[in-house]
Amino acid sequence: MSGTPASDALDGAITAITAAGCETPRLDAEVLLAHVLGVGRERLLIDSELMVEGPAVRAFQDAVRRRSIEREPVAYITGRRGFRHLDLTVDRRVLVPRAETELLVEVGLTLGRQARVLDLGTGSGAVALALKHERPDLLLSGSDVSEDALEVARTNGLRLGLDVHWLHADLLAGIPDEFDAVLSNPPYVAQAERGALAPEIVRHEPAAALFAGADGLSSIRALLAQVAERRRVRVVALEVGAGQAQAVAELMSRAGFPALRRERDLAGIERVLVAERGEGARS
Ligand SMILES: C[S@@+](CC[C@H](N)C(=O)[O-])C[C@H]1O[C@@H](n2cnc3c(N)ncnc32)[C@H](O)[C@@H]1O
Repeated sequence: MSGTPASDALDGAITAITAAGCETPRLDAEVLLAHVLGVGRERLLIDSELMVEGPAVRAFQDAVRRRSIEREPVAYITGRRGFRHLDLTVDRRVLVPRAETELLVEVGLTLGRQARVLDLGTGSGAVALALKHERPDLLLSGSDVSEDALEVARTNGLRLGLDVHWLHADLLAGIPDEFDAVLSNPPYVAQAERGALAPEIVRHEPAAALFAGADGLSSIRALLAQVAERRRVRVVALEVGAGQAQAVAELMSRAGFPALRRERDLAGIERVLVAERGEGARS
């Protein structure tokens, strides 16, 4: 079977993905074609002889259909997502890790030596694994209410050779009071915002990773109520949605953790709140 030059296959895919209304059609098409051909993206640009042929023809058509017609996230199609310095395995059991969540890792990097850290709602294990990778002295645990998500996290940990302890728990229920810091990217989307979400998110990512009640704060409220009862925790860092920072800062303060810093993401949105337990609040 004769093939098609990669540049022609790429042009066709860009047209289809653009027509579907995706935001980054060229990037998506390049990542998908490089994945199908098993080459680096740069090879698509420098190798004018590169062909799409044999089983790759059908595989690329299928990948482009999933991206354009079904609006599936590229990361679910390739099964891979870069996060900090790691290449994570992802699938529809877990949220696709976002660039802004790397801010939580940066908070973790500032913790003292051998601090005990919990990444609550770990999903693919992104935060816990990246932190362990960059700060091997920290004692990392990752928890999730979803057994499916924990399975993905565990697999990532084993494949990357990173020692993180995985816990199945609903928020902090049943988790011992042994952590110095709790980092979390919890669900924070209001149910009413469902209709405004991109099809990639609402059709494909796990609802339990996204939605948190009428105002999007139900998980955060419940988590802070539990953290307030933990005597050992000194630092809490939470990722929040656009426009939620002030409300969450007040909830943190009421839980005994006055917000110290608000870290903005690349879009300028206050994205991660960092709080330390107020003096005297610890027994
Ligand atoms: C927004 S995702 C974050 C995933 C991952 N930390 C990341 O940033 O890519 C939220 C995660 O919290 C988990 N989750 C939701 N409710 C939870 C609960 N009550 N207790 C523990 N984990 C929960 C979901 O299963 C999901 O994996």
